[in-house]
Amino acid sequence: MPTAPIGVFDSGYGGLTVLRSLVDRLPQYDYLYLGDNARAPYGNRSFETVYRYTLQCVEWLLQQGCPLIVLACNTASAKALRNIQQNDLHRLDPNARVLGVIRPTAEVVGNYSKQGAVAVLATNGTVQSRSYELEIEKFFPAMKVVQEACPMWVPLIENNEHNSPGADYFVRQHVERVLRQHPDVDTLLLACTHYPLLIEKIRQLLPERIQVLAQGDIVSESLQDYLQRHPEINERLSREGQRTFYTTDAVDDFNNKATIFFGERIESRHIDLR
Ligand code: DGL
Repeated sequence: MPTAPIGVFDSGYGGLTVLRSLVDRLPQYDYLYLGDNARAPYGNRSFETVYRYTLQCVEWLLQQGCPLIVLACNTASAKALRNIQQNDLHRLDPNARVLGVIRPTAEVVGNYSKQGAVAVLATNGTVQSRSYELEIEKFFPAMKVVQEACPMWVPLIENNEHNSPGADYFVRQHVERVLRQHPDVDTLLLACTHYPLLIEKIRQLLPERIQVLAQGDIVSESLQDYLQRHPEINERLSREGQRTFYTTDAVDDFNNKATIFFGERIESRHIDLR
């Protein structure tokens, strides 16, 4: 086990798409990934449940010695991050930091839209929280933000059906629906860790003037910037290029599916969290 890794948390496999970008940009650090597969998906769960589960996972990552934790899960970032930062972290470990993926994305997404209109595609939980609308407004007050919940996309991807005709149907349904919401939308933000696996299918349905953004590179660039601005955290992180993976469910399943999300074979370990 690395001594002071960057903790990366997700409800399941999806955060591996974010970890991929983190490792590619910042390979020198150690990473400890935790996927709460036994209780995933979080997308339709209540605020209280997502908060409780995420807090347990954060506590575990802190116990493993992570000075910094990234909630790679949009649903957890939307529903649990603020509470953990404001109510729990000072009690658990006042010197540690927990970051999410919504704010770094909101900080830059407006720069991509020429027409001033962005569509956010996400889980039910993220859409209902309105976190993206509220955060984007802080940085781009004039930006028009429309949202679309795509609850079928995560199960399709988790069941390896994302290249099937069934996936075509559901991808088309949501893409058409979101574009009908506002004629000026020229940027589609994939605000869920799983959706990058559908990016080519989504692109094929769009006119050329509309671009699709995945979050991984945005989050990794933002983390790099954060570490430069926070030497007190950066100096504490161990740097042996190690990657360790834990799942709360079966390791064989995790290892098999993880390859799809991470792009390379991994060996995970099991942890029980209740
Ligand atoms: N990781 C979640 C997210 O980014 C998607 C999967 C889930 O619903 O748990 O919102």
